[in-house]
Amino acid sequence: MKIRKAVIPAAGLGTRFLPVTMSVPKELLPIIDRPLLQYVVAEAAEAGVEEVIIVTSPGKESISDYFQPHTALEQRLAASGDQELLDRVAEAAGLAKVSFVLQHEALGLGHAVLMAKEAVGDEPFVVILPDDIIAHSPGAIAQMVQVSEEVNAGVIAVEELPWEVIHNYGVVDGTPVSDRLHKIKGMVEKPPRDQEPSNLTIVGRYILPPQIFQYLENTRPGAKGEIQLTDGLLALIHDHDLYAYQFVGKRFDGGTPMGLLRASLAFALDREDTKEEALSLLREFQDWI
Ligand code: UTP
Repeated sequence: MKIRKAVIPAAGLGTRFLPVTMSVPKELLPIIDRPLLQYVVAEAAEAGVEEVIIVTSPGKESISDYFQPHTALEQRLAASGDQELLDRVAEAAGLAKVSFVLQHEALGLGHAVLMAKEAVGDEPFVVILPDDIIAHSPGAIAQMVQVSEEVNAGVIAVEELPWEVIHNYGVVDGTPVSDRLHKIKGMVEKPPRDQEPSNLTIVGRYILPPQIFQYLENTRPGAKGEIQLTDGLLALIHDHDLYAYQFVGKRFDGGTPMGLLRASLAFALDREDTKEEALSLLREFQDWI
């Protein structure tokens, strides 16, 4: 079945970005000139997703504002004949149909996904975390949609990382099926050192069947009072196949200040219009240190 809908949880507290997240949602922080959210909406649209459901929270109205028409600004730019800027203004809203649901309290990623139950309905969908930015063409979601069609089951994105850092991540326990593909037997959040089931860490892209909502409804909050998506997935795999796919592409962690800086530099070096300036900036810094 075609993947038409994406859920993007954006209702978290963004504590690792405090104090800026007191008034600017983490999901609107930019890589160069576009917010993190826009990169993932574009990645979804490229994969054929038509409707994006963003989960926000009270106080994060700037997220929905971003995707509304900006009529006064557009009129002004049209009057000055600046087509390039007009295109930039229209870009976000033109990617997909965007709607919003509220998560009143940050009760965890699983709870955030559950808030989109009615908006998604009875069809498979994709969950995208906007702080995991993946650079590649075709995008990670497009790759996963293809895999999901081939195996006719849910697929989550994983990345191989060095064993020394695995205890900081969600990790899958899987059986290799083919190149890059593993059938999931289990999952564990932040496994103790020496008990890691693999070095395949879970990345914020999931293609899920609609049945996940029932499992999330029956998932009890964990130690921090949060409903974890991983716990819902663990219940799901009792009855449904789920695969882990090692996507092709480079992942950046936009959820931390240094991760976002790294992503910004990498994107600036990759973009034709910023490449030269970014390079000379790096050379300049090299002289400083
Ligand atoms: P994170 O755990 O990275 O975001 O969740 P956070 O909790 O906002 O950040 P820190 O850890 O405090 O710095 C990944 C995504 O899930 C959303 C976040 O907004 C982020 O986009 N999320 C998380 C929710 O929508 N609701 C939640 O209850 C938790």
